[in-house]
Amino acid sequence: MPENFLDKMTKRDARIGVVGLGYVGLPLVLEFCRAGFKVLGLDIDQKKVDALLASKSYIRHILSDKIAQLNASNRFDATDDFSQIASCDAILICVPTPLTRHREPDMSYIVSTAETLASHVRRGQLYCLESTTYPGTTTEVLIPILEKGSGLKAGKDFLVAYSPEREDPNNKNFSTSTIPKVVGGIDERSLQGARALYDAVICRTVPVSSASTAEATKLLENIFRAVNIALVNELKVVFEKMGIDVWEVIDAAATKPFGFMPFYPGPGLGGHCIPIDPFYLTWKSREYDTPTRFIELAGEINTYMPYHVISRMIEIMSINGIAMKNARILLVGLAYKKNVDDPRESPSFKLWQLLEERGAKVDYCDPYCPEAPHMREHPQFEGIKSVPLENAPDYDAVLISTAHDGLDYQRLAREAKLIIDTRNAMQPGPNVYKA
Ligand SMILES: NC(=O)c1ccc[n+]([C@@H]2O[C@H](COP(=O)([O-])OP(=O)(O)OC[C@H]3O[C@@H](n4cnc5c(N)ncnc54)[C@H](O)[C@@H]3O)[C@@H](O)[C@H]2O)c1
Repeated sequence: MPENFLDKMTKRDARIGVVGLGYVGLPLVLEFCRAGFKVLGLDIDQKKVDALLASKSYIRHILSDKIAQLNASNRFDATDDFSQIASCDAILICVPTPLTRHREPDMSYIVSTAETLASHVRRGQLYCLESTTYPGTTTEVLIPILEKGSGLKAGKDFLVAYSPEREDPNNKNFSTSTIPKVVGGIDERSLQGARALYDAVICRTVPVSSASTAEATKLLENIFRAVNIALVNELKVVFEKMGIDVWEVIDAAATKPFGFMPFYPGPGLGGHCIPIDPFYLTWKSREYDTPTRFIELAGEINTYMPYHVISRMIEIMSINGIAMKNARILLVGLAYKKNVDDPRESPSFKLWQLLEERGAKVDYCDPYCPEAPHMREHPQFEGIKSVPLENAPDYDAVLISTAHDGLDYQRLAREAKLIIDTRNAMQPGPNVYKA
C-alpha cells in the first residue's frame, strides 16, 4: 500500500527501478544509489547493461569510476529482464520521445515500455514518467496500458506521477540533484509518494496540481528556449545585412540587470529536446482546434538556419575567389552543443549534407565524436572518422558548427585559409567571417 511506500522511502529501504539508462536515466541511477537506495537499472540495450555491469561508462561526461562505485556499493544491478520490476518499489521511466518522420510525437517507446511493465505491476508501487511529452500522456497513454495489463487500478492500487527531467548534460553548475524537480501526481497520494521519492535525492521538489501540469511545465521551458533562439537567429540574419554583429548586440543587451535574458544564434537547433519537444504541443493542440503559430514560426526559422549558413558561406567563399563545387571543407563540431559527445539532431549533419549537395568535399573534426554514428536522417555519414584540427590548412574553408572548448582556435586562425564561424568562437580576423 502507498503508506508502506512512504515508510520504505523514509527508511531508505525502497528499491528504485530506472527504465532507460541513457543521458537521463543513468544520472538518476547514480543519485539514488549514492543516497543509499537499492537501484535496478533496466534497458533493452544489452550493450548498455553489460557496460554498466563491467563498470564502464558510455557517456563521456560520466566517468567509469562512478560506475565502478555503483557496483562496489552492492546496491546496484542492471538487467534487460523486466520481470525484475516486480521487486522495485518506485519505477522511473526515462525512455526516448522523438518525432516520427512526419514530425509527430513518436510514442512507441513509452507504449512498448508500458506494455512490458504492465504484467509486472504490483500493489503499492509508484510509477513515475520522466520522458518529455505532451500534456495528457500519463493519464491517456501510460495508465490505461498499466491498468489493462495488470488488472490493477491506478491511484487505488498503485501510484502514478509525472516528473519532467531537466538534466543539462555536462553543465558544470547544475547536476541532477541540484536542479529543482517539478512533480505532478494523478492524485494526492501519488503526489506525496513522488515527492517522498525525489526529496530523498533532489535539492527541492516543486509540487504542481496534476501530472498534465507537470507535462506542460516541461514543454513551456523548452518552447521558451526554441522561440527565443529563433528570435536571435532571425535578428542575426537582419543585423548581418546591416553590418552589425549580433553577438556584440546580445552581450551589450545582457548588461541590463532585469527584463532581458541572453540567447545566442547558431547554425540551427540540435539535441534531443529543443528541436523536438515544442512539436509535441503543436500536435496535441490540434485536438483542441487551436493553432500554435509561435511554435511553428520558431520551428520554421530554426529549420532554415543551416540553409542560411550555407548560402552565406558560398557568398564569403566567392568573395575570396573560391567556388563551392569541389572545394575541400573542414566541418568543425559534430555534437549538437559544445563539450558533449551527443550528436542527436545536430545541425552539423544538415550542413554536411547541404555542402555535399553543392559539390564540396567534406571532412569533419570533433574530438568528442571520433566516428560519425548512425543517424536516422543521415545514414550516409555513418562510420566516417574525425580528422585532426591541425589538418585545417589543407582545406579551402573551415566551417565551425560546434565550438568545443579546448580546440586551438588561435592556431586555427593563423593557419586556416578561410573560417566561417557560426558560434562566435573566433576573434575577428582577415580570414574569419561570422555566419
Ligand atoms: N538528454 C537530455 O538532456 C534530456 C533532458 C531532459 C529530458 N530528456 C528527455 O528524457 C527522455 C530520455 O532521454 P535520454 O536523452 O535519456 O535518451 P537516451 O536515448 O539517452 O536514453 C534512452 C534509453 O532508453 C532505452 N530504451 C528504449 N526503449 C526502451 C524500452 N522499451 N525499455 C527500456 N529501455 C528502453 C534506450 O536503449 C536508451 O538507453 C526523453 O523523453 C527526453 O526528451 C532528455
